Amino acid sequence: MIRDKALLLAPMEDITDATYRKVIAALGGTDIMYTEFISSDGLIRNGRKSLDKLLLAEDVRPMGIQIYGHVPEAMIAAAQMAEDAGADIIDINFGCPVKKIANRGAGSGIFKNIPLMLEITKKVVDSVKTPVTVKTRLGWDDKSLVIDKIATQLQDCGIQALTIHGRSRAQMYLGTSDWTLIGKVKANPAITIPIIGNGDIDTPEKAKAMFDLHHLDGIMIGRACVGQPWIFKHIRHYLDTGEHMPEPTLQDRIEFSKKHLAISVSDKGDWRGIIAMRRHFVHYFKGIQNFRETRTRLLRSNDVQEINNILDEIGERFT
Ligand SMILES: Cc1cc2nc3c(=O)[nH]c(=O)nc-3n(C[C@H](O)[C@H](O)[C@H](O)COP(=O)(O)O)c2cc1C
Repeated sequence: MIRDKALLLAPMEDITDATYRKVIAALGGTDIMYTEFISSDGLIRNGRKSLDKLLLAEDVRPMGIQIYGHVPEAMIAAAQMAEDAGADIIDINFGCPVKKIANRGAGSGIFKNIPLMLEITKKVVDSVKTPVTVKTRLGWDDKSLVIDKIATQLQDCGIQALTIHGRSRAQMYLGTSDWTLIGKVKANPAITIPIIGNGDIDTPEKAKAMFDLHHLDGIMIGRACVGQPWIFKHIRHYLDTGEHMPEPTLQDRIEFSKKHLAISVSDKGDWRGIIAMRRHFVHYFKGIQNFRETRTRLLRSNDVQEINNILDEIGERFT
């Protein structure tokens, strides 16, 4: 299902929307991308936000649609809707740590009910022709790091790849991702499906080290791509050649953010397109000295032309 040493874009709510996926796809380096997670309840109630997330750009492929929920019937229906929407992969989210989701038994909350996790997985696999994958964590907390055992059970349900974020639910995003446990799953002779590791990869060297140490089939990257849509291309280049691509200059960052803004506005209209860009601007221009006043203007403006002028000004004042 995936190429050797694949690089995958992690699903990230409110970040890896269709717009940002186009920006990343245009730069290259990713092998599979995922939508943000989509509520199965939202889909079966025809919620606008959930349905919008099903819309895939034809030229950004292969695409996984990620769904979450704790009710098997809703998950089956959601998987069928994702299939009808043209998903190349249907991914089940068993990892989200957010309280309002996990406390209802969805996302990582499923670790409190492993039989239900397996039931949902099997039923989803059986209800669609599209390959089904799972993204999960190591377990609920450090006393119940059950991933090794669950991985084979999920495989027996018929999933075609497993992504493991090397943290427990209790860790949320704190501490560090434990790749030794991910490696242990990959080294289990009973495991035949691709294993994708995830958590804290933010440099080409780290990606290479994890591939070399644990012989994983893929690495999924999330937070490090925010403000750095080129990171996949840079990592791929390093894996292929052992050499680094030059770091983008401030002028490059300005050009990327302008293109990103243009796609955002074209996809969503001026108002929503600008609002959606604000969280990205912060990351594109992190760490610039004496940037505060410019940053405030950049994040307050509601006008595309004015924002483009401020971006030009950044190039003139800060290089
Ligand atoms: C803002 C944000 C939103 C996220 N949304 C999702 C999501 O919708 N689905 C999912 O499976 N994981 C989600 N995650 C988790 C990431 O996919 C990934 O597992 C996690 O960030 C660890 O990888 P990283 O260290 O490369 O970021 C989200 C993470 C962040 C920071």
